[in-house]
Amino acid sequence: MDMNLYDRIPNNVNLSEDKKLQRALEKWLPNYLDWWREMGPDGFQEKDVWLRTAVDVGSEGWAHFDYVKMPEYRWGIFLEPPKREAIVGFGDNYGRPAYQEVPGEFRNSLRRIIVTQGDTEPASVEQQRQLGKTCPSLYDMRNLFQVNVEEGRHLWAMVYLLHGYFGRDGRDEADALLERRSGNPDKPRILEAFNQPCDDWLNFFAFTMFTDRDGKYQLSALAESGFEPLARTCQFMLTEEAHHMFVGDTGLGRVVRRTAQLMKESDVRKLGGIPLDIIQKYINFWFSYSLDLFGGEISSNSADFFAAGLKGRYKEQEQYAEHAAANEVFTMQVVEDNQLKAREVPMRNALNEVLRGEYVKDCEKGLARWNKVLNEEGLTERLYLPNPRFHRHVGEYAGHFFDLQGNLITREEFEKHKSEWLPTMEDREYVRSLMHPVTEIGKIANWIAPPAAGIKGKPFDFEYVRL
Ligand SMILES: [Fe+2]
Ligand SMILES: [Fe+2]
Repeated sequence: MDMNLYDRIPNNVNLSEDKKLQRALEKWLPNYLDWWREMGPDGFQEKDVWLRTAVDVGSEGWAHFDYVKMPEYRWGIFLEPPKREAIVGFGDNYGRPAYQEVPGEFRNSLRRIIVTQGDTEPASVEQQRQLGKTCPSLYDMRNLFQVNVEEGRHLWAMVYLLHGYFGRDGRDEADALLERRSGNPDKPRILEAFNQPCDDWLNFFAFTMFTDRDGKYQLSALAESGFEPLARTCQFMLTEEAHHMFVGDTGLGRVVRRTAQLMKESDVRKLGGIPLDIIQKYINFWFSYSLDLFGGEISSNSADFFAAGLKGRYKEQEQYAEHAAANEVFTMQVVEDNQLKAREVPMRNALNEVLRGEYVKDCEKGLARWNKVLNEEGLTERLYLPNPRFHRHVGEYAGHFFDLQGNLITREEFEKHKSEWLPTMEDREYVRSLMHPVTEIGKIANWIAPPAAGIKGKPFDFEYVRL
């Protein structure tokens, strides 16, 4: 595939050969830049940031690192190269040639999937736009901006699909992606987790750990889609997404380490650290909101999408020998007559829940890494994930109340314990009170430990952002 890095819109999809599409995207470009200047990182647009830019899609050397001013970042459209003889990998059309165009009867629902995914990308940039001002170190500031510009590129990837495959409606949807605003009651972003404020660094790390990780699973399920342009787009997005989760996972791990060190000295609060119980509450909050992003436990949409070969399971080809999932059943707990009861559901209707289960397993590995830190520091306290039924707003458990272990409780009991389980206003204010910028090269805020290594072989005390 040719990389056209010096086109107005860098791409590897031969954009210059499709004049109509190229013109449409070039018309969208200035609107995107207006949005970036208005809603992107506040206060740092003219600074040189040491960023990676995608310049290839190969597994080696796909990125170039250098100082860039964010509005000059080369956002591009990069798809994985096509496979020869790509097939529909699951569902009722298993084994047929992959779709190169949108199958007519799925046009609306596929557009919805792409718009919903696309909407999360600018939303997270908006949620995080003030964080640069309170960064704990230049290293962290650089990572924040790296995540932000790549979410911008993911928006480009989805907008390419909308413009390229959905005609007029696609163009309208692409415009609307720049019009909604995270947390704005009049024109909110589509998914609730993306309207929640992300205004301190503990939120940011929890968000990139738990919410970006939902993205990994959604993208993975689409990366094997029978609609080939979507599959190839998502495959490349996953390459970048890995770094976002690294930022969250190691970021929280560093907070945990610092907290543990301070716990051994004396009262964490007095020493200006973040108490372990506040970290736990942030985990409870972002984990539960991120679980909602997978959709209802029982879903006819998921069945239709799987049947059509559009959205598969996690690692469908690698993990499963049988790709129809037509006669299997899945047993899950549902609330009936105010009690938890087991119900058997056709497997295809339970695929949101199956994907959510994969996600939970992945999150547990993160918890194990943080608990290893606590162990290394000689503490016996441990962090944990709440039961997936806890604090849900979507699906079977929404409207019911559960404790952290997943026991059904009354609303009154929930309200009574809420301040022990979820961040309170005071917790948030306390965390915010610690957020003072540290921007001296090689220095770090008191509430977080330095990283084990810098970025791309650079030391921690490298000038990641020139202020
Ligand atoms: Fe993304
Ligand atoms: Fe991301």
